[in-house]
Amino acid sequence: MTKILVTGSTGQLGQALRSVSDLYSSLSLHFFSKQELDITDTNAVESVFTSQPWDYVINCAAFTNVDLAETEPEKALLINGKAPAILAKACKRNGIHLIHISTDYVFDGEKGSPYTPQDLPNPINQYGATKWEGEKAIQAIGGDFSIIRTSWLYSEFGNNFYTKILKKAEAGEPLYVTNEHIGSPTYAKNLANHILTRTKNSCILKGISHFSDGEAMTWLELAKKIVKEKKIKTSITGSKKQQASTLRPFKSVITD
Ligand SMILES: NC(=O)c1ccc[n+]([C@@H]2O[C@H](COP(=O)([O-])OP(=O)(O)OC[C@H]3O[C@@H](n4cnc5c(N)ncnc54)[C@H](OP(=O)(O)O)[C@@H]3O)[C@@H](O)[C@H]2O)c1
Repeated sequence: MTKILVTGSTGQLGQALRSVSDLYSSLSLHFFSKQELDITDTNAVESVFTSQPWDYVINCAAFTNVDLAETEPEKALLINGKAPAILAKACKRNGIHLIHISTDYVFDGEKGSPYTPQDLPNPINQYGATKWEGEKAIQAIGGDFSIIRTSWLYSEFGNNFYTKILKKAEAGEPLYVTNEHIGSPTYAKNLANHILTRTKNSCILKGISHFSDGEAMTWLELAKKIVKEKKIKTSITGSKKQQASTLRPFKSVITD
């Protein structure tokens, strides 16, 4: 049995992993919420990582509020930039393969064509900058690691674009959605299945890789797809205006 520890388990990706885990009978997944394992606590990490012969750690824990990261950069750096180093060191010491999730927001969005894992990050906001710090720390420490950059994660779990759009549409509220940015939306269960299938088959790519659902679109196009899929009739208007002033990459489509 392959033993896998999942951090940040009550977040969107953590819940997606839990929801598909029954499909993988050769994998034994153990889920740790923030309350059960704070990844910024070196002693707690060391204690949990040595408690069982783990084969993999999937780090789903992160500070993901892009706007809040602008006003709380130190907290974002601690969780996204420094804690991955704690995890990487503990993994290396204990012979565990670290699977860490990163983001298209490490890029500035100015390339004009899809970003590959070889492209150099150049984050334009605190969230992206702190996530890139985390990537660099893991690479510097070494050991077995896989950094999987994904983009525009959505799912039925938690408070994300998909659940927010559905809630408003079902309440009959008109939707105003930005059509300024282009990215590759990724259904969280698809990423969860990608990670677990590769883990099960011992073929998870080491180093940096990209995973998205592959189709490039705007948030407006994604919102239209979501309400169409659910057969909800609602008015959706494209808006140039962003709700918050945080800079976001204009076109952060990723490819592998
Ligand atoms: N969401 C996206 O659109 C997106 C896009 C690209 C990449 N990603 C990356 O994908 C990964 C998963 O994202 P997600 O959407 O699942 O995020 P999420 O829903 O915000 O989940 C993150 C989880 O981490 C927990 N957490 C925060 N600080 C922690 C700590 N110190 N120790 C342990 N757990 C902690 C959070 O708990 P609390 O909520 O209680 O703080 C939350 O349960 C992240 O690495 C993210 O950067 C996300």
